[in-house]
Amino acid sequence: MPAVIQVEAHPYYPQDELKETLKKNKIVVQAWYPLGHGDKELIRENVFTKLAEKYGKTNAQVILRWHIQQGNIVIPGSKNAEHIKDNANIFDFSLTDEEMKEIASINKNKRYYYPNPSIVQGYAKMELDESLDS
Ligand SMILES: NC(=O)c1ccc[n+]([C@@H]2O[C@H](COP(=O)([O-])OP(=O)(O)OC[C@H]3O[C@@H](n4cnc5c(N)ncnc54)[C@H](OP(=O)(O)O)[C@@H]3O)[C@@H](O)[C@H]2O)c1
Repeated sequence: MPAVIQVEAHPYYPQDELKETLKKNKIVVQAWYPLGHGDKELIRENVFTKLAEKYGKTNAQVILRWHIQQGNIVIPGSKNAEHIKDNANIFDFSLTDEEMKEIASINKNKRYYYPNPSIVQGYAKMELDESLDS
């Protein structure tokens, strides 16, 4: 039984249905594109701006905190030193149940990643690079 599955997950695509199934088997979601691949429309949603002001955090930190409270493993991508520091600094505040529900209401069932058959075929043919083992 796998312990972790990596799938696209963020507030516009929270994977609620899949997570219900995974919960029964104690499988945890690792969020692919946890910040919606950096989509500014998502990051600047009013609910995040409001909560960021309330907690003295950034919008991205509120999104990452939402992931943690959802039980997701979260590894955001960033090439910006300030963002990398901010992204680790999300353990000194908590969102209330009401705020978690408010964030749930912005679900748009919107994905950013659509693999086509040739991409999937490429994954299936991937081979381990043995030189990376040592
Ligand atoms: N398994 C795989 O082969 C695979 C492949 C691709 C992606 N992934 C998954 O996707 C994750 C990262 O993918 P991703 O980087 O495309 O998507 P992402 O983490 O959802 O978003 C990254 C974007 O958000 C911005 N960002 C990060 N921190 C921010 C902050 N504090 N404030 C404002 N903007 C911020 C980044 O810009 P800056 O650089 O300016 O911070 C970047 O544009 C990986 O860790 C992994 O989970 C997996």
